[in-house]
Amino acid sequence: MKIRALYFSIIGILVILASIARVDSCNASQNRIAWWQQARFGMFIHWGDYSVPARDAWIMYQEHIPFQEYKQFAEQFNPQDYNPAQWVAMAKAAGMKYIVITTRHHDGFCLFDSKVSDFTAPKTGAKRDLIAEFADACHAAGMRMGFYYSLVDWRFPGVLPHGTRKDDATYKKMVDQAHAQVRELLTNYGKVDILWYDMLMPYDPVLWRSKELDAMARELQPNIIINDRAGVPGDFATPENVVSARPGPWESCYSMNRSWGYARYDRNYKSVNELLRLLVSCASQNGNFLLNVAPDADGRIPIEAVERLRSIGQWMRVNGKAIYGAGPSPVGDPNLGLETRVGDKVYFLIQRWPGSTVPFAWCGSKVKSARLLANGQKARVEQKGDRVWLHDLPEYPVDPYLNVIELTFEGQPRASQPAYR
Ligand code: GLC
Repeated sequence: MKIRALYFSIIGILVILASIARVDSCNASQNRIAWWQQARFGMFIHWGDYSVPARDAWIMYQEHIPFQEYKQFAEQFNPQDYNPAQWVAMAKAAGMKYIVITTRHHDGFCLFDSKVSDFTAPKTGAKRDLIAEFADACHAAGMRMGFYYSLVDWRFPGVLPHGTRKDDATYKKMVDQAHAQVRELLTNYGKVDILWYDMLMPYDPVLWRSKELDAMARELQPNIIINDRAGVPGDFATPENVVSARPGPWESCYSMNRSWGYARYDRNYKSVNELLRLLVSCASQNGNFLLNVAPDADGRIPIEAVERLRSIGQWMRVNGKAIYGAGPSPVGDPNLGLETRVGDKVYFLIQRWPGSTVPFAWCGSKVKSARLLANGQKARVEQKGDRVWLHDLPEYPVDPYLNVIELTFEGQPRASQPAYR
């Protein structure tokens, strides 16, 4: 009987300890990621030897180019106009709070110096560690820095096409290389804020020793946040080219045109309006927006992207308070646009400007004041029960993109009917 009691108390204590550990690791993840959830907006950069042929990042696979032929691009990759400080400044001016760069894409070409590979920028045409220069620029400007790292390396025999697993010895070499390179990346470049894995192929976290990889990353960079693409739970989820809200932290990454890597022929750029809507759509659902740019082989960001970033920046300088740290709002009129909540304030980001009166309803708290951020104009607030009218606003929209109204409430903003949202 006594032994039984002892047995159950030990089990009980273990269960309690395990749940404390789980809560602790949850809290640790929440603390680590707090800055990122405040940031809401980041820049993605896809750049590599594939920028030379300028047909996006997948040609080695899609055109089935043998490595012996493909490697000429690395010899030709010698960017003359590479100025990472300028990239960082451009991101900053656009209102972006972090930058994630492809240190290595699926073709295995490293922008950084690696002891375990010769297929790197320092050992081919460029003869420079481009990631070292990038890291210096980020650190000097106080820009948070993320490293994208593709796990798969198409140079290994039998890896292509994806899904044809043939030879475990080859895979073991590829996995060892990944572990060694992630160690290099997180050791040699100072503080790294984000580790952004991609392409766990074959999809087998045991083969890749993904848990071990994450443990190493966290040991080398204790505050790093890690995405979910190594097949084990990460700090945040990564829907791609789609806005898809998740219960925990998430980030939608989007190409600005239709290619991740530089593609000379791809002029299918999204409009500023569309890009802002995507950003707001993420922020209004507790998500981040990671917007890609694809510099050319000389290190120049295409003019179409530069122009868009500049316009987004102009908009963010006036309206950024509706984005940083934003989450869902309990009130608003989805017919007019989108809305966010930041602290006690609500922001209507209006796409279809209704004229000098903006009506909305189902509002459960008293609106104290409202103003249009684009010109600071105050609205006259009329409220009857849960119906609200914001009068005396401009007849026509002031901002060419989304016109943002900031609402201040008495106390917390609330809907009159919880079911409304
Ligand atoms: C996909 C693509 C890859 C790109 C990544 C960005 O995994 O294969 O080219 O880098 O998406 O999220």
